[in-house]
Amino acid sequence: MDLKEIGKRAENEIRTAQNQNDLKKIVQKYLGKTGEITQILHSLKNLSNDEKKQLGQDVNILKTELMNLISSKEIILAKKELEEIENKTDIDLTMPARQASVGHLHPITQVEDRIIEIFSNLGFEVAQGPEAETEWYNFDALNIPKDHPARDLWDTFWLKTEKKMLLRTHTSPVQVRYMEKHVPPIKIIAPGRIFRYEATDSSHEINFYQLEGLMIDRDITLSDLKGIIEKFFQAFFGGETEIRLRPSFFPFTEPSVEVDIKCLLCKGKGCSACSQRGWLEMGGAGMVHPEVLKSVGLNPKQWQGFAFGMGLDRLTMMKYKVDNIRLFYSGDLRFLEQF
Ligand code: PHE
Repeated sequence: MDLKEIGKRAENEIRTAQNQNDLKKIVQKYLGKTGEITQILHSLKNLSNDEKKQLGQDVNILKTELMNLISSKEIILAKKELEEIENKTDIDLTMPARQASVGHLHPITQVEDRIIEIFSNLGFEVAQGPEAETEWYNFDALNIPKDHPARDLWDTFWLKTEKKMLLRTHTSPVQVRYMEKHVPPIKIIAPGRIFRYEATDSSHEINFYQLEGLMIDRDITLSDLKGIIEKFFQAFFGGETEIRLRPSFFPFTEPSVEVDIKCLLCKGKGCSACSQRGWLEMGGAGMVHPEVLKSVGLNPKQWQGFAFGMGLDRLTMMKYKVDNIRLFYSGDLRFLEQF
């Protein structure tokens, strides 16, 4: 077989190759394991030494030439393919780039940050506890009796764990956890997510956020509670905000109160936002029950203080005049982008 003739043929085929696939086939046909040129090398063993040397050199030169040709043809073909793709699609490279959308903090998180700021100015630290709680921290340590309705399957998400556990129904267990680990004086707030098994409507969700507060020292009284709460609401809603305390009941505080603020919309006259009452309920509070202090090993004769719990969602709804709590959890950007 004439090497020159093979070379010419291969060269020709490379030049007229239409695509990368053609090129691959050509490489196989001439230079592959059973390719024509490879086969010539195999036939060397039947030749004399001089002939071997000469033919070997010729074959190597031809191989290098062909490989060079193939590489440059590959580049030409790749360019052609790119051009074809560009012509086929209607991508307009001169169009302005799409803006990357930048997110921001959720309104409840924004409110939480603001509240933390206000309370840290009043000397409070932030404490946290787990969302999956034990029965002890959520109920027993807080003096909530065994037959209390909150312990019912219908009010609480119980977990299928070995130890009886649940999704916390309030942030009050953080009071207990914190008092166990720290000696008074104590001044904390504990914002966090809580869970209740209930039907949802415009003011109820199965999970929402609370803000717990706790202040323990030797001679803290209800008037300290009133002062702190008032300072907070005035910082949060504005200087004229009025508050009032109404008698109430919680197993873990004694005495217990309900905290109201004067309706921000009607200034106490009565409107639809406050159900004509003139006042809005913002949360519960009271003096920490002696039994709770005992359950964390504090002597109620030495230590006393107040606790409060408010709905963060409620505060956010009031601040931004949102009338449906479910909007916060809908993930609807048309709503969220307004904050
Ligand atoms: N934990 C109570 C609730 O969820 C609120 C509260 C907290 C009341 C602290 C008194 C003191 O309703």
